[in-house]
Amino acid sequence: MTFAPGRMEIFEGDITALDVGVIVNAANEQLSPGGGVCGAIHDAAGPGLAAECAQIPGGCATGEARFTNGYNLKAPYVIHAVGPVWHGGEAGEDKLLAQCYRRALGLAVGNNLTTIAFPAISTGIFGFPADRAAQIAVSTVKQFLDGDDRLKRVIFCCFGEASLKAHQRAFTEFVDG
Ligand code: APR
Repeated sequence: MTFAPGRMEIFEGDITALDVGVIVNAANEQLSPGGGVCGAIHDAAGPGLAAECAQIPGGCATGEARFTNGYNLKAPYVIHAVGPVWHGGEAGEDKLLAQCYRRALGLAVGNNLTTIAFPAISTGIFGFPADRAAQIAVSTVKQFLDGDDRLKRVIFCCFGEASLKAHQRAFTEFVDG
């Protein structure tokens, strides 16, 4: 585990174990239980989460986010953010990834939450390169926090060392540097 000063932190481990106001799910447009972090969150939350997701009309478009309860998770709420599938980088992937971070942060603030944890959205099954995604994630969150003091703690939850290192490099570039 590593921590950076200020309101942004890097954590290495399983997001389902985090005791924060809300955790973010790297979801799909159908909001159905998938693999990766989505599968882990649904497994830990229990069937109530999938049942609530199934009631959300229209699911969730890429670049958007939706808010639900957290059921058996430690976190009382989940924000389901749908990142872009990587198509080589010329299909608007960067903007869509930044947008889903902003939407998730907006939903957290709109629901009066002060702590939020993100997985590295799109960098698993959706194939977004880890360093490029970490740069977008860290710079987008930093920009949001600079303009809004309501969120007190944003955790980048990294699963594995490669993701951890990518976020550490992004912190050096955008936060510490
Ligand atoms: N905690 C934190 N991070 C995790 C965990 C976990 N328990 N499990 C996996 N991860 C990490 C992956 O290592 C990766 O860095 O989350 C990141 C995102 O990977 P994916 O879960 O594959 O998400 P994504 O690339 O956005 O693909 C989304 O996968 O599971 C489906 O329903 C989901 O269709 C959607 C797609």
